[in-house]
Amino acid sequence: SGVEELTNNDNIEELLSSLPCEKLWDNYSLYLYQGCWVPSIFLNGVIYIQKHFQARDTDIILASIPKSGTTWLKALIFTIVNRSRYALSEIPLLASNPHELVPFLDNSYMKNRSSIDNLSSPRILSTHVPFALLPHSTVTCNSRIVYTCRNPLDQLVSYWHFLLALYPEQTTMRLFPLEKVFEMACQGVQFYGPFWKHVLGYWKASLEQTGKILFLKYEDLEEDVNFHVKRLAEFLGCPFSVDEERRGVIKAISKLCSFDHLKNLEVNKSGKLPSGHANSTFFRKGKVGDSRNYLTSSMSNHLEKLIEDKLNGSGLTF
Ligand code: A3P
Repeated sequence: SGVEELTNNDNIEELLSSLPCEKLWDNYSLYLYQGCWVPSIFLNGVIYIQKHFQARDTDIILASIPKSGTTWLKALIFTIVNRSRYALSEIPLLASNPHELVPFLDNSYMKNRSSIDNLSSPRILSTHVPFALLPHSTVTCNSRIVYTCRNPLDQLVSYWHFLLALYPEQTTMRLFPLEKVFEMACQGVQFYGPFWKHVLGYWKASLEQTGKILFLKYEDLEEDVNFHVKRLAEFLGCPFSVDEERRGVIKAISKLCSFDHLKNLEVNKSGKLPSGHANSTFFRKGKVGDSRNYLTSSMSNHLEKLIEDKLNGSGLTF
């Protein structure tokens, strides 16, 4: 019901009070909106894009549940798409964090709609909403969707570290232990969770609409990033020419967007986003399997089994 009725703040308040809510700490909650646990700070923005965002056929939408390689994919897609506009040595990625170059619809569209409406095509935009919550036009027009996901154990550990880094006062280890984040995630309660619903929504849609949705996994990219750079370019309608391949452009893009390179750029070491968040929080370790260093084997086994059950029969595994 909610969306159509939302014309003013009163209705938002009314909607909020009717939604199931889980508190992370004082003043910070997740609301269960249309089956998805949306952080309170993004809920208005999510409702707003559902209502107002008009996708274009030329749009490229990067979708992900947080901590699944969003930053990496923003860098890769931006560079691949803009490689004829800028020499790689002058690409804005060297001076700006990927999140400044590829706006996050869930918060920025409501705040500054015209800045996104006025972007020239092809626009590269991002969202964390599950497939079922995407603005209608995104699904019906010819825009392309790139989805990235990641092993749920690594994603969870990355998410926990991100919360600790972003909200140090509220999340001292004592108040916000990994055990708490783990237990909530097992109930599906995490930013834009449940995890399984998020990945399954895009997985199923990607099987039905192969030219529209490219489903990627962080681990696959780590294993062979050059292959995926090539694949992304083809999917996005700007394949590499024979000459580009010969000149080593694919490898150069992979290297430019690599964790070590981006992490060590001055802008990502000392810069901040307009929101005040340090750019460095988006570059922690960048390793596959880091969850082993944090989760006990009983936690890992439990979560692995849970995810396996939830994905059973879908053909998707981690
Ligand atoms: P870790 O916390 O495991 O290090 P997102 O971008 O979706 O927020 O995901 C963040 C995760 O991706 C973090 O994982 C971060 O270190 C990693 N990451 C960021 N940039 C990366 C890159 N260029 N290559 C590989 N991993 C990257």
